Amino acid sequence: EGNASTGEGGGGSSGDKLVIGFSQVGAESEWRTANTESIKSAITDAGHELKFSDAQQKQENQIKAIRSFIAQKVDAIVFSPVVETGFETVLKEAKDAGIPVFLADRAVDIEDDSLWVTFLGSDFVEEGRKAANWLAEEMEGVEGDINIVELQGTVGSAPAIDRKEGFEEVMAEHPNFKIIKSQSGDFTRAKGKEVMEAFLKSEGENIDVLYSHNDDMAIGAIQAIEEYGLKPGEDIKVIGVDAVKGAFEAMAAGKMNVTVECNPLFGPQLVDLIEAHAAGETLEKRISVKESIYTMDQAEELLPTRKY
Ligand code: AHR
Repeated sequence: EGNASTGEGGGGSSGDKLVIGFSQVGAESEWRTANTESIKSAITDAGHELKFSDAQQKQENQIKAIRSFIAQKVDAIVFSPVVETGFETVLKEAKDAGIPVFLADRAVDIEDDSLWVTFLGSDFVEEGRKAANWLAEEMEGVEGDINIVELQGTVGSAPAIDRKEGFEEVMAEHPNFKIIKSQSGDFTRAKGKEVMEAFLKSEGENIDVLYSHNDDMAIGAIQAIEEYGLKPGEDIKVIGVDAVKGAFEAMAAGKMNVTVECNPLFGPQLVDLIEAHAAGETLEKRISVKESIYTMDQAEELLPTRKY
């Protein structure tokens, strides 16, 4: 497992050049583009060879990519699963071939955790809790029902499942919080706009809050709210997740209220883990990325410092 390939030199701290296959989800959001760039450049900057495959948000493409990495006898596979289930067989094939798998960003729902070395990513449940806790504070003292519409991420993906769970966990302590509509916008701006248009068509001014599982969908929805003739950030409070630059711009313009950070820039940390494993170290099964939460009043000051 983790045998180094015979390349010349290599700048990795382990000293061995590795061939690393990286199966990415797609290019659905600003977050994803930043994540792809961070992982790709960390691998090549460390002197390793990268084999990259973009799944365009399709599970079957990821299964094919992983099989092709196995056939090419890569030294390690980095894999960010589109959805949580359905990868057991292909991960067993990687294990049987002696190729270590590193889960990046998204988890899988599989009992046998010997099928991957470690999972490096964000705590999505906690992000959902942070979003709801912000709303609870913001709405403190407000009487009557708070009508929330929810834009979910990709159906069956870890961030969509977990961000919903964390949000609803906190909501349970606030009986006046009501999710009146909830639908997937597949983490994209275009879909976020389209679904928000449908929400507005059926609920209109009834909507108090939009909880969007990522900023891109929130940004699409903001456009829909404006076109409908309401003020995003005021008439409808807008909550996003990721903390991408686009969210800071929307917050600085007063159109978005808050974004919960999900940090995509963990490429260097990931490469350290791959090298540590190749050098024979035992890694924890789950490693978290540190994150924060940002509000409208901080946006203008922090915007120039944002790296993604
Ligand atoms: O898995 C992380 C999520 O995927 C990000 O929050 C979202 O923007 C991306 O598409």
